[in-house]
Parts: sequence; C-alpha cells; structure tokens
Amino acid sequence: MRTKLIVANWKMNNTVPEGLKLLAALSREVRETKECEVVFCPPFTALFAMSEAIEETPFKMGAQNMHWEESGAYTGEISPLFLKDLNVQYVLLGHSERRQLFGETDIMVNKKLSQAIRQKLIPIVCVGETEKEHKEGTTFDVIDLQIKKALDGQQKTELAGIVWAYEPVWAIGTGKNATPEQAQEVIQAMRKSLAKITDVPTAESMRILYGGSVSDEKAKGFLKQPDIDGLLVGGASLIPQKFAAIIRATEAPQ
Ligand code: PGA
Repeated sequence: MRTKLIVANWKMNNTVPEGLKLLAALSREVRETKECEVVFCPPFTALFAMSEAIEETPFKMGAQNMHWEESGAYTGEISPLFLKDLNVQYVLLGHSERRQLFGETDIMVNKKLSQAIRQKLIPIVCVGETEKEHKEGTTFDVIDLQIKKALDGQQKTELAGIVWAYEPVWAIGTGKNATPEQAQEVIQAMRKSLAKITDVPTAESMRILYGGSVSDEKAKGFLKQPDIDGLLVGGASLIPQKFAAIIRATEAPQ
C-alpha cells in the first residue's frame, strides 16, 4: 500500500512570518494526518524557521530544488547537505518552472536525482508535457523520455520509494486541469515504463502524484484514481482552508 502524499509547493511566495502564519493556520485546521503524508516546500529562506515550527505538527519538510554537488564554487546554489541540516526529507527536482525559466535540463535533473538518492533525501521528480506536445499527441513519448533520462545510469537497487509528479505544463497555474481520467492514463503508463526500466515491485513502490491547478473541489476526483498516489499543489496550498480540504480529501477517496 502506497501512503498518499500531498505536497505544498509555495514557489516564490511567503516571507518567514507569512510562512509561519500559514503553517499555524493549517495546523489548526488539520491536527493529524491519518491517511497521508503532508509535505511543505517553502522558499529556502523560510526553511530554517519552518523546520523548527513543523516539529509541533504532523507535517514534513521539503525543498523546491537543490544543487547536484555537496559543496564548492556554485554561487547562489543550495547544497543537499544544507537541506539535511534543516531536517528536510523531500526535494522537488526538475519542476517545469525550473526547466522552462531557468534552463534546467534532463542531464541536470539526472545529476540531482543521483545526489538526492546518495543523501537519502526523497526526490520528487517532476515530468510533464507542454501544451504543444499535448496537442500533437506526444504526451506519452515526452514523459517516457523524461523518465528514461532521469534514470539513466542510476543504480536500480536504489530507486525504490522515489516519488514522481506528473504535471502537464499547460495545467500549471492556469486553472486548466487534465481530467482525473487523463491523469490516471498517463500515470499508469508512467508506472509501466518505470517497471520496464526497474522491475514491477520497484515501480509499485514509487508514488506518482498529479499536479497542475489542483483545487479543493477537484482533489477527490484525482485521488480516486488507482494509480494517483497524491497531489502536488501550488496556488491552492497558499490558502489554508483550501489546502486543508485537499488533505481531507485523502481521508475518503471514494
Ligand atoms: P498550481 O502549481 O497548483 O498552482 O498549478 C502546481 C505546481 O507547479 O507544482
């Protein structure tokens, strides 16, 4: 049984006081997480304060990115060791905004994935097709290739338990969603390719999330799907009542 995972991606939002306020508001709404894990990925500047405050809550810490080296002359970058220092357990890798706006390539995502595995950080590797690719009908091929490139050269025995997020680029922050059925189809295909690259038990151990304009109203529809193991939430994670409702949607997926 894969435990459902709900991830808040705050992106470049929330100062430290704002972040702490949001966390406090959410922990008043959600006192325990029986059916799922809940992970917060605040901006780097809020990680320290958040990682202290989160100890009083049932939630866990994640980061939005990291560098693939442990240290060195990489001005402005964040080492995985800095994240571990702050009790960060999860890290988003290859988010489409990193790929599209900051030139992150499949090769970089591959190196980050190796380093995350080495450091025992749980990677959440993001993949997804653009609107053009979606319209051209190449979604499966695009995602299959992103997965293959991310996993190229990785030790197969180390891959159990890593997390993937299927986020169609055209659905992020646009209010447009893939339908739950479309997302299920892609995610099921992802699990098949993962099984081919690794093996069935490893692929079955991996959680695959859907992300892209997830709202409180739509959360349940996605969580009902057999292969969708959780949600990566941007905009709606900034509003405590909405995010709380998304977490609660894991409790009664039927
Ligand atoms: P969104 O963002 O929910 O605001 O579409 C999701 C994401 O980018 O992870």
